[in-house]
Formats: sequence, structure tokens, C-alpha cells
Amino acid sequence: MKYLPLLALLILGCRESPRVDYTAEKSATYSTVAIAGPHPLATQTAEAVLRRGGNAIDAAVAMQLAMAVVYPRAGNIGGGGFLVYRPADGPAIALDYREVAPAAAHRDMYLDSAGNVTEGLSTLGHLAVGVPGTVAGIAAMHERFGSLPWAELVQPAIDLADGGYRLSEAEIERLKRYHDDFAALNEETPFNDSSRVAGTLVQQPDLAATLIRIRDEGAAGFYEGATADLIVAEMESGGGLITREDLRQYAPKWKAPITKEYKEFRLISMPPSSSGGVALSQMAEMIEPFPLSEYGFQSVRSVQVIAEAMRRAYADRAEYLGDADFYPVPVDSLLRDEYLLNRMADFSFDTAGTSAAIAAGNLPMKETFETTHISIVDSLGNAVSITTTLNGNFGSKVMVDGGGFFLNNEMDDFSAKPGVPNMFGLVGKEANAIQPGKRMLSSMTPTIVERNGELFLVLGAPGGSTIITAVLQTFLNVTEYGMDLPAAVAAPRFHHQWLPDEILYESDALSGGVLDSLKTLGYRFREVNSMAVIKAIRVLHDGRLQAAADPRNPDDDVAGY
Ligand code: DON
Repeated sequence: MKYLPLLALLILGCRESPRVDYTAEKSATYSTVAIAGPHPLATQTAEAVLRRGGNAIDAAVAMQLAMAVVYPRAGNIGGGGFLVYRPADGPAIALDYREVAPAAAHRDMYLDSAGNVTEGLSTLGHLAVGVPGTVAGIAAMHERFGSLPWAELVQPAIDLADGGYRLSEAEIERLKRYHDDFAALNEETPFNDSSRVAGTLVQQPDLAATLIRIRDEGAAGFYEGATADLIVAEMESGGGLITREDLRQYAPKWKAPITKEYKEFRLISMPPSSSGGVALSQMAEMIEPFPLSEYGFQSVRSVQVIAEAMRRAYADRAEYLGDADFYPVPVDSLLRDEYLLNRMADFSFDTAGTSAAIAAGNLPMKETFETTHISIVDSLGNAVSITTTLNGNFGSKVMVDGGGFFLNNEMDDFSAKPGVPNMFGLVGKEANAIQPGKRMLSSMTPTIVERNGELFLVLGAPGGSTIITAVLQTFLNVTEYGMDLPAAVAAPRFHHQWLPDEILYESDALSGGVLDSLKTLGYRFREVNSMAVIKAIRVLHDGRLQAAADPRNPDDDVAGY
């Protein structure tokens, strides 16, 4: 019962979504530039920018804004995200434009008088909303690395909002599912009418007007003036916390990425406030000593090693990970080789570990101290890996009245109470407790992989807690199991997150024989319809770029030339 929200999400997926065809690979190979993303109009927007001579950051800026129009369940200006950027001629860098808790937020804000978490308060409606970071984030990446004028990059999104776009089959299904929430929280949105069919044209004049302010005034067109007034009015009408001062104070942060060597590869990924880079690196290090390619893909031994590494990384996540500006996250200790090798010392092939026995590791020393993804490589070899999110589909389901955009429900990514799972079943403690101005812990794992110092892979995914393990498995599918990229992305996956103590697996991920053997060893399993949705690019031996989208999202698309 404790884990109902995550399970409800995945099992609901089973009932309502058509079964995923994991053999339906979506990919193309290009000579010069490549893009992978969640919607054809978004990838086409990025391609047009690259054709006009823009670089990967220019394309990413235009694409994120286009996604806010044509992919409103996760593309956003009312949410936040992470960039991992590897310029062809300089060191990799990360940008954290995650939402923050409003100044009036406090650690017990979702607890009732008996100290229990009030269901729904952190996921639905105005109190669930964190101060958005996306517009400040894309303005910052453009200012530092962009080459085309800002207004030119915002314009395609304005045109899409103004002229309209046609709803896809997959979007119709989502809109129907959330219709009642939209109607309960909003008087009118362009998405309230549930009688629509695929192909219906949706125009978003309020959103176009907001985007025009952003085009003309930059980030101030969102955080100040008319847009800020609309956000604050929306908050006041629904009992939300965000003030003008919260908006004025918001600032994205440039950070050093987390890097980890794995054989001849180097993983470059997102530091806190994401747990992604740390957990991915931990899992890779724990797995490296085991000869996975000898064991074979989804063999009993491979699944055991990978699942036990996952279990341990997520146990550490729950204890130690949070916004490093508010809590002394012991990143160096968590990534130390000796610590990680020792972490697997109690692992045995003879029996399943248990999460009760594992808990978080004792660190050797104390230190002081509905999401979507886009991957882009441009003609110079600049590589962009961005994951951006409203958290749930359409976030809090609150659309800013007159502003035309959905606000996130990212506050649910905080630990509302120690040990009580959030909607992805993730637990946390002090490190991820709510504090004003703090970023909530994320699992988003935008990642770039080098091979012998050269650009090799760009990848990432939406999928809540299953993002990190999906990025890991896609990487291992290519590097250990010899798959080409489309097969590596499509291959059915499994997932362990310490608690609940069970392995989630996609239909077809594990053969009957492997499942039986693992059950005999003591592992518990739960089949789900689909988990994270990868979008990736691989640099082939001859320098061409292979882009692969994921059959798990029917609208996923690749583009390039
Ligand atoms: O930051 C996180 O980890 C979550 N808010 C991501 C949510 C997500 O991936 C939902 N998408 N399917």
C-alpha cells in the first residue's frame, strides 16, 4: 500500500496504454547534425535552427520553447531542467535550472495535524508548485554559449502557439486521462475539451502572448512584469505560495558535472540537485569488476549484479542526496572507488540481497561541505543533453490563467516526511527535506559519454525514479552487450530502487527461465508496461551520427542531416 502512487502510475499505464512494441526501433543516421526528442515539431524546430547556422545550444533553446507549446505534458516554461553540455573545444559543464521551494515553504507543509502526509497536496494544485527555472535556464545557456539572436530562437514557439499544432493520438489519450483534474483546477484551458480527436488543431493565444514577452524582454519577460503578475494572481486565487519576490530571486546555477571512468569510457552527468550523476556513477563503478558481456544480456548473473548495484545506489540516494547548497552532500565520498568496491563486498550470486539488510553505506569519512529529454549534436561536435520537466504529466495541472502555461508539481520530489515515499515510491530524509529556496532532489540524468576522450554517446530520459537505471542499461547495452544504439534504446529494461524491495521489469525484459531462477534466489518481481523513455545519439566509427528515439513514446522522433 505504501508504494501505491508509483505502482498506480505504472499499472495504470498497463491498463490504458497499448502494449509497447520493443522491437519497433526509431532511428536514423546523419552525416552532420543529429537530434532526438519527444515530438516531431520539436525536433524539426531544432533542425531548422541548425540549418540556419545555429549551434547545439541555439537549437536546444528553440526546441525547449517549442516543446512547451507542442508537448505540454512535459515541455514547459513553468517547470525546470538540467543541461549537460560538452562543447567541442572546451571542458564539459552543467547548468542546474531546477525549480526551488518558495520562501514561504516549510518542511512540514504537507503534513496534517497528526503529522501524516496529506495525499495530493504535493502533487495536484497550487501548493505543489516550485518556483520555475526553465526560462532563466535557457536564457543563461543562450547568453553563455548561444550564437543566433535570442528573438530568432523564441519566434518558432510563438508561431506554433499562434498558428496551432495538431494533437497526436498519444496526446489525446493523455488529455482524456487528466481532463477531470484540468476542469477542477482551471476555468478554461486549450486542453479542457475532452471530445477532441487526433488531428484537432490547438491554438494557444495566451501562451503566444507570454512567449512574445519572453522574446522581447528575455528572462524578465517571465520573472517580472505581466507574466509574473499572472503567476502571482494564479497563486493567490488557488492558495499557492509563489510571490513576486520568489520569481525575482530565481537564479540558475552553472556547475561542474559528475564524471566517472568506466573502462575506456567516461560518463559525464548531472551533479546535485540531481541524484542522477552520482547514482549512475556509483552503479557503473560497482558493476565494472563483473564481466557482464560474458554473463550475457538479461542473464541471471547480469540481472543480479546490476540490480544489486541499483539497490545500493538508491539506498545511498535516500540517505545522502539533496541540494548541495543546503545539505553537505558527500559527493566525493559516495564516488570513491574503495567505498564502491566495498559496497558490493556482501553481494553473493547464491542468494538475493534484501533492502532491509542493505540500508545506506557507512561512508569512510565525513565531508563538510512528465519530464522529457533532448539530445543534440551539431556540425562542430558540440553536444547537448537536456532533461526538463513539470514532474507529473502537465505538472500540478494548474495552467496560469491568462499566461497559457502549466505549472510544475516538483515540490513532490522533496521528502515530505522521512521514509514516506513520493509519487515515484522514492524515500528520503534530512538531505531532501523542504526548505525555502532549496532545490528538490531529482533523478534526471542528462548524460554524455566519451570513449577514449572522444564524444561517443549523448543520452537521457524522462521516467522519474527509473531514469537513472534506464540510462545505465542503455549505456551497458551498447558497451557490454554489443547492441547498436536503436536496439540498446528499445531493449526492455528492469529497475530496482532499494525500496520497495522488488525488481520492476518491462514485459519481455526477462525470460521465464531467468525469472524463475531469480525468484528461487529470493528476488521479488513486478511486471510493468513501460518505464523511462530514452532519446540518444551515438557517434559511429566513421564519424556519422546515429540518433535513436524510443518506441515507448509514440511521438518520439529523430531529425538531422
Ligand atoms: O526530477 C525528477 O526526478 C522527476 N521530477 C522526474 C519526473 C519524470 O521523469 C516524470 N516523467 N515521466
